[in-house]
Amino acid sequence: MRVLLVGATGLLGTEIKRLLEHRHEVITASRKGSDVAVDLSDKASIVALYERVGMVGAVVCVGGAAKFKPLNALDDSDYAFSLANKLMGQVNLVRCASGHVETGGSITLTSGTLAQEPMVGAAAVSIVNAGLEGFVRVAALELQGTLRVNVVSPGWVAETLESMGQDPSQGIAAAEVAKVYQRAIDEAITGQTLLAARS
Ligand SMILES: NC(=O)c1ccc[n+]([C@@H]2O[C@H](COP(=O)([O-])OP(=O)(O)OC[C@H]3O[C@@H](n4cnc5c(N)ncnc54)[C@H](OP(=O)(O)O)[C@@H]3O)[C@@H](O)[C@H]2O)c1
Repeated sequence: MRVLLVGATGLLGTEIKRLLEHRHEVITASRKGSDVAVDLSDKASIVALYERVGMVGAVVCVGGAAKFKPLNALDDSDYAFSLANKLMGQVNLVRCASGHVETGGSITLTSGTLAQEPMVGAAAVSIVNAGLEGFVRVAALELQGTLRVNVVSPGWVAETLESMGQDPSQGIAAAEVAKVYQRAIDEAITGQTLLAARS
């Protein structure tokens, strides 16, 4: 199967590519350093991405960003950035997929543990992550029989904790998170938030 992987150069993207490319042709996308350039914050760039890549059987997105700042430091532009980037970027990947993803194919987005777990500084990130999980439930309902749409919610990733000077044993390895994205491609599930957390 041809799989379009957005955010392929990042921590999770690198592990997902490593896992998927044993069985699939993986087309990588990000702003820099991938097969195809895309900026998720720009809908026209997403339209151009699909036109350039052609038909795929699955789309996986681990790209996009949101601002992490305390509530009293988040300004209008921080909220606007977060909504336009990680939230609407991934929503637009679904909205623009028609005619570019095979019937019965899948789109797998990424939220994160901050959708459910409150943390100081995470207000904008939490809005984005929770919004994605709500969006996927409805999109799956409306696209039933056409496309499967799921979202993976990673817990803190061990390598990220380590890079932040924290105990990596409290997180899940990126290679383990990648297996959850493979499940979303392989299993006949839709509308699900798949948790990828330390067991
Ligand atoms: N790591 C964690 O502990 C953790 C935990 C929970 C949730 N998550 C979520 O998982 C996802 C991936 O995390 P990660 O740690 O792998 O991130 P990462 O290492 O920072 O990688 C992000 C990837 O997305 C691409 N990207 C960023 N902005 C983009 C844009 N506007 N358009 C297109 N591509 C863009 C980056 O490449 P370019 O910069 O070249 O575009 C890169 O390939 C994120 O949504 C993150 O919030 C991560």
